Amino acid sequence: MKVLIDEERIINRVKELGIQITSDYKSKDLIVIGILKGAVLFMADLIKKIDLPLSIDFMAVSSYGKSTQSSGIVRIQKDLDEEIEGKDVLIVEDIVDTGLTLKFLADNILSRNPKSLKVCCLLDKPSRRKVVVKVDYIGFDIPDEFVVGYGLDYAQKYRNKPFIGVIVKEE
Ligand code: IMP
Ligand code: MG
Repeated sequence: MKVLIDEERIINRVKELGIQITSDYKSKDLIVIGILKGAVLFMADLIKKIDLPLSIDFMAVSSYGKSTQSSGIVRIQKDLDEEIEGKDVLIVEDIVDTGLTLKFLADNILSRNPKSLKVCCLLDKPSRRKVVVKVDYIGFDIPDEFVVGYGLDYAQKYRNKPFIGVIVKEE
């Protein structure tokens, strides 16, 4: 495994994002929606750095199956538990690649009439974008490499690594 972003850089950046979100959401009705499963580690660390009253919820969607290629087909596997109408929604996602997943999620959430909607992604691969999506908070821009760790998987493995890395062939 080649380390692309080490644990210390992640911790520092998550703290900065938390401070930024705290100042942007003062006196709002914040609900943080984590996208399962990739965003779980990021979301857990991020919300500890948001110094505001907030609630959390989760959605799970599938787009890839076991392959590393985006199919463009997105299906809801787990929907929200809470009503979000009138609330200030922040989607927390692991990575924006083609943007197809996020476009689907944003459209779906907007159809439920939240007061506002913003998106926070740990990683962005801008060179791979197929559809235009607005990402309000980005942890790191990364090159077009398939990454794992800190929540991100390859065939459901490596999510528990505390860093972001690239799998090297011989492993
Ligand atoms: P998109 O729909 O192409 O933007 O893909 C978004 C989803 O694909 C993310 O939520 C990830 O689950 C997965 N994904 C995209 N790129 C990577 C990667 O480099 N490593 C692991 N998962 C990825
Ligand atoms: Mg994901």
